[in-house]
Amino acid sequence: MPTRVFIFDTTLRDGEQSPGFSLWPEEKLQMARQLARLGVDVIEAGFPVSSPGEFEGVRRIASGVRGPVICALARANPKDVEIAAEAVRPAERARVHTFIATSPIHMARKLRMTPDNVLEAARQAVTTARSLAPEVEFSAEDATRSEVDFLCRVFEAAIAAGASIINIPDTVGYALPEEYGALVRTLLERVPGMDRVTVSVHCHNDLGLATANTLAGLLAGARQVEGTINGIGERAGNVALEEVIMALATRRESMGFTTGVATTQIHATSRLLCAFTGIDVQPNKAVVGANAFAHEAGIHQHGVLVDRRTYEIMTPAAIGLPTNRLVLGKHSGRHAFEKVLEDAGIHLAPADLDRAFSRFKDVCDRKKTVSPDEVIALVEEQFATFPRTWELVRFAVTTGTGRPPEATVVVSRGPRDEERTASGDGPVNALFDAIASAVGVRPELVDYTVRAAAGGADAVGESVVKLRWDGDLSVGRASSTDVMEASARAYLGAVNKILARPPVAAAPAPRTTAGASEGRA
Ligand code: KIV
Ligand code: ZN
Repeated sequence: MPTRVFIFDTTLRDGEQSPGFSLWPEEKLQMARQLARLGVDVIEAGFPVSSPGEFEGVRRIASGVRGPVICALARANPKDVEIAAEAVRPAERARVHTFIATSPIHMARKLRMTPDNVLEAARQAVTTARSLAPEVEFSAEDATRSEVDFLCRVFEAAIAAGASIINIPDTVGYALPEEYGALVRTLLERVPGMDRVTVSVHCHNDLGLATANTLAGLLAGARQVEGTINGIGERAGNVALEEVIMALATRRESMGFTTGVATTQIHATSRLLCAFTGIDVQPNKAVVGANAFAHEAGIHQHGVLVDRRTYEIMTPAAIGLPTNRLVLGKHSGRHAFEKVLEDAGIHLAPADLDRAFSRFKDVCDRKKTVSPDEVIALVEEQFATFPRTWELVRFAVTTGTGRPPEATVVVSRGPRDEERTASGDGPVNALFDAIASAVGVRPELVDYTVRAAAGGADAVGESVVKLRWDGDLSVGRASSTDVMEASARAYLGAVNKILARPPVAAAPAPRTTAGASEGRA
């Protein structure tokens, strides 16, 4: 009988807090809905005390996502715990996750607390959390560099105070698989009550060992895995959940574990995160990289043609990679269009589906055939439903040798049209400058990319524009057969996100006790 492993997703907390990966509350909600479709057991929705926007984001997920447990992070102090419990209160099943560092260097240098004070803060935080939430998880930050005797005392106190999940983070990705497995085993043997709680593993990837360490932890007796989609997270990231999930599924005979995950939703979940953050995974990334199922070498291609199992240990279909290479064109109907999206695990609201279908029809007028990858690129800009305050009406760009590039744009806001002309060092620079002047917002351009969504000179071009405004990053994404049009619409998409930003209320004041001295977890 296989043993069930619980999947705890922290993409929206440990992942989202790393530079360049921040998401807007609406995007976090949509991502949480996709994680629920993926079938994770727990969604760590955020760190509510860090800002009013973060609190609101967690609360919206707790109110709007059904299925998984919704969890919020809190440092080991009463204020953090109260705010976290309040944020997840509307959830069907709520969890507060409180933590404090237990390694000598963290206690002495970061917290400036004695081990006894740390132990007491942990006990009190769990007690408070347990009085406010039905389920409490406790983590000993930097557990792998902590003294084992002290770790045992802290975990014993946390369990006695009511924690039912005990997490053993390899916070700095320092452990080796054998060591990490041995630590989990030792704690299970030595901590009174550890056999009655769920033991959790949380591995960072600084030495590229996060997946190996996670599996070692499970084989030693842990039953919950914490990680992120695409392995996003601080520094080199957290363990990539898709890697752990597919390792457990592919090597089920050897390890004997099951999860509640619908693996066919992995590809769609990974793509959605890329679309929101504007950051793609490396092509050779395990499981979700563009080349993960590509066979280039002749000898491999021959093997795969004869029998896919020669070089494939898992099938593309298992992660939901569309295998149906249905090619669409102007005679294709809505049915075929929706089938491509369905195969890719993409879910759009009806209004967004209508808009995406009409964009698809526009493209069919300009291009004979449209591949599934191009269809997906076309709909990706519909993923985040921000109000389209400004729309592109038309534009013209002139460029060539011997004269400065010039762009004229007409954008509309409701019935109002604005037309502006600008010149620049290059045509894109001129185009963006004209738009910024028309919409009256001039954010900093942080990054800009254009790439073909499929092969062929007439392929649909995808553009991603990243803007910074008031410290927040806004990502716009758009596709078109005309890369300048895609760029203009991506820029406007990022501007519209900025304009849709909710007003920022006063931050709940964190207390400055028990590790509450830094803003991020
Ligand atoms: O890596 C870590 O130690 C964490 C804790 C807050 C669980 O993310
Ligand atoms: Zn972490």
